[in-house]
Amino acid sequence: MSLFHALVPAAGFGARMGHELPKQYLPLTGKPLIFHALSTLCACPKISTVFVVLAPDDTLFHSFDWSALGDKLQPLYCGGVTRAESVLNGLLAAELEADDWVLVHDGARPCLTQLLLDKLLVELCNDDTGGILAVPVADTLKCADQQQRISSTQDRAGLWQAQTPQMFRARLLVQALQQSNRVTDEASAIEALGLKPRLVLSDSTNFKVTYPQDLLLAEVLLQRR
Ligand code: C5P
Repeated sequence: MSLFHALVPAAGFGARMGHELPKQYLPLTGKPLIFHALSTLCACPKISTVFVVLAPDDTLFHSFDWSALGDKLQPLYCGGVTRAESVLNGLLAAELEADDWVLVHDGARPCLTQLLLDKLLVELCNDDTGGILAVPVADTLKCADQQQRISSTQDRAGLWQAQTPQMFRARLLVQALQQSNRVTDEASAIEALGLKPRLVLSDSTNFKVTYPQDLLLAEVLLQRR
């Protein structure tokens, strides 16, 4: 029987937050930001292991107390210069069985719920390709020219915003990332193989903390739960 594993790339710096501390360690409700995503993944009974991919020179991870998350958590100090490289290095270091499922989740999405996670697992566990959480685009999309003026308007019909987790079989994902290392999510690498990952309807609360104001939003959301 195939196992489910989570893999959380957390080797980035998060320059857009404009902070000295790497984004994954910024305080959020009294814990490092990444604690929240790791906690949701570790609490899911179907997930066997939660790998967290850190920069090789990360000195902060071990300065926090992760004991509340139990023994599923496994740090891997093999992050790369891009997100895709961190994920690929993590997958290779984790030495998973070919048919095991991997759920890649951004460490910077702290508001993932058990409900959404379970929905993804249920909807994809019998899928041939795998897929991702995503939401249909709500706003009108504009293309900008070099002077930051609108050059055209994109038809939003049929457009979805990709989130994480993104769930694929381990061997397929390794193969995909070895062939496309410039992608910004796992699904793009799978698409480049000619496959069509499934879109599982999520909601906007599973946003990625990217800018300082996102941290405040996440704090309010987590405190209300
Ligand atoms: O920069 P961005 O917010 O898109 O990063 C998404 C996730 O990928 C974050 O959790 C970040 O730490 C991770 N990442 C990584 N290795 C990199 C760049 C980003 O693990 N070289």
